[in-house]
Amino acid sequence: MRRRPGSWDPLAWNGPWKGLLLAASVLGSCFQPAPGQTQTPVTIVLTPPSPVVGGNVSLAPQNPPQDFVLCSWYRSATAAETSRILTCFPHTPLVQQNGPAHTGLETAGPGCALHITGLTLNDTGNYTTLAPIPHGASGTHSNTLSVPCTEMLPRPTVTPNQTLVLENGTFTLRCNSSPSADTVLWLRDGASLVPSDRLVLSPDNRTLTVLGVTRDDAGAYQCEVRNPVSTKRSEPGTVTLAYGPESVRIDPPGPITLTLGSPLTLTCVADSIPAPSYRWGLNGTDTNQTGSSLTFNPMTLDHQGTYECRAHNPITNRTVSVWSNPCPGWHPAP
Ligand SMILES: *[C@@H]1O[C@H](CO)[C@@H](O)[C@H](O)[C@H]1NC(C)=O
Ligand SMILES: *[C@@H]1O[C@H](CO)[C@@H](O)[C@H](O)[C@H]1NC(C)=O
Ligand SMILES: *[C@@H]1O[C@H](CO)[C@@H](O)[C@H](O)[C@H]1NC(C)=O
Ligand SMILES: *[C@@H]1O[C@H](CO)[C@@H](O)[C@H](O)[C@H]1NC(C)=O
Ligand SMILES: *[C@@H]1O[C@H](CO)[C@@H](O)[C@H](O)[C@H]1NC(C)=O
Ligand SMILES: *[C@@H]1O[C@H](CO)[C@@H](O)[C@H](O)[C@H]1NC(C)=O
Ligand SMILES: *[C@@H]1O[C@H](CO)[C@@H](O)[C@H](O)[C@H]1NC(C)=O
Ligand SMILES: *[C@@H]1O[C@H](CO)[C@@H](O)[C@H](O)[C@H]1NC(C)=O
Ligand SMILES: *[C@@H]1O[C@H](CO)[C@@H](O)[C@H](O)[C@H]1NC(C)=O
Repeated sequence: MRRRPGSWDPLAWNGPWKGLLLAASVLGSCFQPAPGQTQTPVTIVLTPPSPVVGGNVSLAPQNPPQDFVLCSWYRSATAAETSRILTCFPHTPLVQQNGPAHTGLETAGPGCALHITGLTLNDTGNYTTLAPIPHGASGTHSNTLSVPCTEMLPRPTVTPNQTLVLENGTFTLRCNSSPSADTVLWLRDGASLVPSDRLVLSPDNRTLTVLGVTRDDAGAYQCEVRNPVSTKRSEPGTVTLAYGPESVRIDPPGPITLTLGSPLTLTCVADSIPAPSYRWGLNGTDTNQTGSSLTFNPMTLDHQGTYECRAHNPITNRTVSVWSNPCPGWHPAP
């Protein structure tokens, strides 16, 4: 069966290499088999199945004919001359003729095998073999194998865009990882996170957006990255919910019984993250005191009055005032 030659000009060789030209023309049509043509693509076996950066890989046609004229390998999904790695003539000794896509790390082996050493991520891609043409046969087999060259993944890192978040607010976490991670999963406090209306993943899973933040969203976030040869989990990235001040009170609560002349400490207590700043007032006037407690030593009648503690959280921008309640009742020393 005669076929129209494709546009591929294999090696611009003449005469003796008719076999190769024939191979080319058959290849050109092999992806659109003519009716009645019974070619089946050759099966290529990849060893190891998950090639790793720095390692070696072999691509070998399964059950190659014992006796064939030549075979070629290409670094693309088609047998284009510019992507030809090598052509192999199975004489003894085997003859290897390198093509434009040969990088110095590829060698041909028995049975039309292609060996690549010192793999890099750049070796990921499609490899096509124009596989053995048995002597006397008029056809050839070809096939393309996608080779995922992968690496032992480095440990990823998690970066929250803010570590203190507001209730009802939004924050994002980014998982910084090698592109060769093909699965990215998230955990909070060691438990897997399931995406929801409020926990939204980017298409590549590398960004987690938390909407309508609740207290349960605070915690230690980790991402876990996987590929066929490794699984790595990040250090936790901690997100803290800013809230309060709440439950603000002055200790000790009034009325206060004390002995004039002895010391007294008033402490303002608040439930707040981050810790609030404090201001103290007396009888409605700022005292310019900013600590969480106020100490009188010794206590005198001049300290008598109604104390106000004003607690302010700079993140929630909430301020809560409490007064010593009731006004400290003074019980002068008997
Ligand atoms: C890769 O192949 C080279 C050359 O054949 C050999 O020296 C090396 O040990 C192999 N490396 C691995 C990881 O198998
Ligand atoms: C991979 O290819 C890119 C672009 O061609 C090149 O810049 C890079 O150095 C290559 N990396 C390796 C490890 O060969
Ligand atoms: C392999 O070939 C397929 C089909 O032509 C293409 O979609 C894919 O991008 C190729 N892969 C690489 C890594 O070049
Ligand atoms: C968050 O939203 C809920 C419901 O809309 C509301 O009750 C609550 O006060 C909000 N909290 C804050 C800190 O804004
Ligand atoms: C963090 O990301 C969220 C959502 O994109 C955004 O609303 C928020 O302002 C960001 N925070 C900071 C500190 O950039
Ligand atoms: C993205 O995350 C979802 C939910 O955890 C998981 O089922 C899916 O496999 C992940 N996909 C990728 C590409 O990491
Ligand atoms: C607080 O500081 C302001 C300005 O420094 C000063 O005018 C005021 O008298 C001070 N008040 C007290 C009670 O010390
Ligand atoms: C605060 O007010 C109380 C009651 O009016 C008064 O007895 C006290 O002297 C005042 N204290 C000061 C420091 O002005
Ligand atoms: C904080 O609250 C005060 C008073 O409620 C307001 O004037 C101010 O603009 C707020 N600041 C911020 C950053 O929201």
